[in-house]
Amino acid sequence: MEDLKFLMETAEEARKLAYCPYSHFSVGAAVLTKSNKMYIGCNIENASFGAGICAERTAIFKAFSEGEREFEAIAITGGKEGEDGHFCAPCGICRQVLSELGGDDLKVLLGSAEQYETYTLGSLFPFAFTKNNLS
Ligand code: THU
Repeated sequence: MEDLKFLMETAEEARKLAYCPYSHFSVGAAVLTKSNKMYIGCNIENASFGAGICAERTAIFKAFSEGEREFEAIAITGGKEGEDGHFCAPCGICRQVLSELGGDDLKVLLGSAEQYETYTLGSLFPFAFTKNNLS
C-alpha cells in the first residue's frame, strides 16, 4: 500500500496543538485530499464538556468548509497529553461524519509515524446510516 507515513507525521504535529485541559488526552488528525492537500485538526475541549470536538472532525470540517469534497485518507494519533501518540480508534460520531464526507473507501491510518495500521472507513463502520436511508 502507498506510503502515507508523512500524513501520520503531520497528525503527530497537529496533536501538539490539542486543547484538552479536562481529559488530558490529546489527539491529532491529518486529512489528505485527492488533490494532495493536507488539513490538520486537534481535539478542542470546553468547560461545557459536550461542546468539545474531536480531532478528526476538526480536520475534515476545516477541509470541507474550504471547498474540499474528495478525500483520500485521514491519519489519527492520540494518547495521554505529554506522552507519545499511539493507536487511537475514532469515536462513533467521527466515524459517522467520516462516512458522510469521506465514504467507505477513505483510508484511515491509526497509530503513530513509527507504527501504524491502515484501514478503510467502510471496514471500521459497516452498515452506515447514509443519505440512501432517507430516500
Ligand atoms: N477524542 C478525539 O479527538 N478523537 C477520538 O476519536 C477519540 C476522542 C478526544 C475527545 C476528547 O477531547 C478526548 O479525546 C477524550 O475523549
